[in-house]
Amino acid sequence: MKGKNSFRIAILAASVVGITVVHYFTPLRLHVFHDIFQRLYYLPIIFAAFWFGLRGGLVVSLAASILYIPHVVFQWGGHLTLEMEKYLEILLFNVVGAVTGFLSEREDARRVQLEKTAQGLEDSYRKLQNQADLIIRIEEQLRKAERLSALGELSATLAHEVRNPLGSIRGTAEILKEDFPTGSKKFEFLEILLKETDRLNRVVEEFLHFARPVPPPLGTCDLAAELAAMVKLLENDALAYNVRIDIHAAEIVPEVTGDCERLRQVFLNLMLNAIQSMPHGGSLEIAPRLLPPQGERGGKVEIRFSDTGGGIASDDLPHVFEPFFTTKSGGTGLGLAVTQKIVESHGGSISVESELGKGTTFRVRLPV
Ligand SMILES: Nc1ncnc2c1ncn2[C@@H]1O[C@H](COP(=O)(O)OP(=O)(O)OP(=O)(O)O)[C@@H](O)[C@H]1O
Ligand SMILES: [Mg+2]
Repeated sequence: MKGKNSFRIAILAASVVGITVVHYFTPLRLHVFHDIFQRLYYLPIIFAAFWFGLRGGLVVSLAASILYIPHVVFQWGGHLTLEMEKYLEILLFNVVGAVTGFLSEREDARRVQLEKTAQGLEDSYRKLQNQADLIIRIEEQLRKAERLSALGELSATLAHEVRNPLGSIRGTAEILKEDFPTGSKKFEFLEILLKETDRLNRVVEEFLHFARPVPPPLGTCDLAAELAAMVKLLENDALAYNVRIDIHAAEIVPEVTGDCERLRQVFLNLMLNAIQSMPHGGSLEIAPRLLPPQGERGGKVEIRFSDTGGGIASDDLPHVFEPFFTTKSGGTGLGLAVTQKIVESHGGSISVESELGKGTTFRVRLPV
């Protein structure tokens, strides 16, 4: 910028001096040339006004006037009426310098103003866009919450309608059972009836579990012990699917505040899903680790469940935590919805990454 300005000043000075020199050294009889040279002064004056505003225009027009006046006075005689046209021209130099300088300054100011307005507009636009994104996200969450609360009401009604007759059926079966000797065919039928009623009751219970608000967790839970217990519980399933389950604990994982029973359900759901995704065998790696505290928030425990199963299609991935989303013929699609609800009620979060054909990784993060 500085270099550019010095260059411009040099050009202006050189042209004013150059024009003056030709004035002084051109014989007066070539007055046509003198007329032309006189007007050449306008070029540096106008450029100075464009480049340096009012001050630039005036400085160059005054310099041109001062250099030109001796030529008029001493070489042309300086007669006021005879050389009137030349005096007027000098006046005009300064008028042109001032007006052009003033206009160019105003133009510059307007350009700066416009640039500022454009920048402001762009900022507002970006802010608006961010807000629009936020609104869309909140709306999505609201819609999900709405669906869940409708589901809650529905299942409460359903449970009510189903449970009462179930109670009567169970009672009646119990009474009828007394009439038949143990081991007889009818006694066995009644046993089946009782067992199926109990199962139905459990399903209804589970529904209610999902719909009911989860109370804040109390007590502490030893995650490493719970994980090991769940692996043990699933030993037979894993064997049937030819799946290897490994727990990698790189460090000692601290206890978390929480409802152990519900957290066990989380681990069980994730392990079951993983095993079910590997019908031809594979491995499931479970890796708990401690995440260091970040800023205001305290430390977290992360438990990673990585399987080498079929993976989840990218179209399905955003939906896996939605209630009733399932790709299994016998699935309810409630497993991950319940899992997410439990984890969030513990102040934690759950995320998933998956590649079709390669495997899936779920990460559960719980505050310590
Ligand atoms: N580890 C995994 N690998 C591949 N797909 C998975 C995995 N975990 C979940 N999924 C996909 O997410 C869907 C939803 O899982 P979710 O546990 O909620 O229901 P589900 O397993 O189908 O039914 P349920 O748990 O009631 O038996 C599954 O149907 C499956 O398509
Ligand atoms: Mg499941």
